[in-house]
Amino acid sequence: MAENEQQQAPKLDSTVPQTARIWNYWLGGKDNFAVDRQVGDQIREAFPQIVENARASRAFLVRAVSFVTSEGGIRQFLDVGTGLPTADNTHEIAQRLAPESRIVYVDFDPLVLVHARALLTSTPQGVTDYVDADGRNSAKVLAAADRTLDFGQPVALIMSGILGHVTDDDEAATMVREYVAALPSGSYFIALDGSHSVEHSEAERIWNEQANPPYLLRDKEQFSRFFEGLELVEPGVVSAPLWRPTAQSPTHLDVVCGVARKL
Ligand SMILES: C[S@@+](CC[C@H](N)C(=O)[O-])C[C@H]1O[C@@H](n2cnc3c(N)ncnc32)[C@H](O)[C@@H]1O
Repeated sequence: MAENEQQQAPKLDSTVPQTARIWNYWLGGKDNFAVDRQVGDQIREAFPQIVENARASRAFLVRAVSFVTSEGGIRQFLDVGTGLPTADNTHEIAQRLAPESRIVYVDFDPLVLVHARALLTSTPQGVTDYVDADGRNSAKVLAAADRTLDFGQPVALIMSGILGHVTDDDEAATMVREYVAALPSGSYFIALDGSHSVEHSEAERIWNEQANPPYLLRDKEQFSRFFEGLELVEPGVVSAPLWRPTAQSPTHLDVVCGVARKL
């Protein structure tokens, strides 16, 4: 683990394309450098759907966080692999519905840390906190989150766009298991990632040649394993636009997601 952290934790380097900044570029944000835009454009050329994927991913996050807040009664959130602030950050979605919600954000990208101020704009009734750490170090993250969250009460664990960066299947599964083990019954796990397809694979190839950290596209079956032992909320593991859609005719995209409850 320590060795992995050394290898992958990004430094603030404007010459190496980084996932948080490329994602921000696809989402229409301004917190990115020329190298990020270059790789972002190259991937978009090979796989034009990528921008739609990024937007559909954030739209899923809005629906999933709203669901666990309003229907699941969740008031605590642990968002691992937060990304750069954008419209509708987790605390804004949750606190719109339940102002007393408590949110802990976790990311290891130094630029996300620089912009963390925008994530710390809690309602007076609630609280937001930011942990600058490698999400794979669950013990460290859980200890830091304990400052803000009460692990005796249900928590929604969010991993959106981060598990693909944990390219070793066993390491990714262990990471999810360690977090879920720390949560009480009635907690939720919300996860999303890019999913494997022939077209998406070309984007993955370009990404892994040039960007950091590496990314592994998993298919629906592989991704579904992260929910083992949990009760999936309907409609189960599906393409992001198809999870409790609000659009009239949602189309399948190569992004897979699910929400599950710990019994
Ligand atoms: C593709 S972005 C997704 C951002 C956001 N969750 C969303 O869905 O829009 C992935 C984020 O995960 C972060 N990340 C990747 N690996 C990580 C790790 N091992 N520990 C902490 N953060 C990580 C990146 O820095 C980046 O901000």
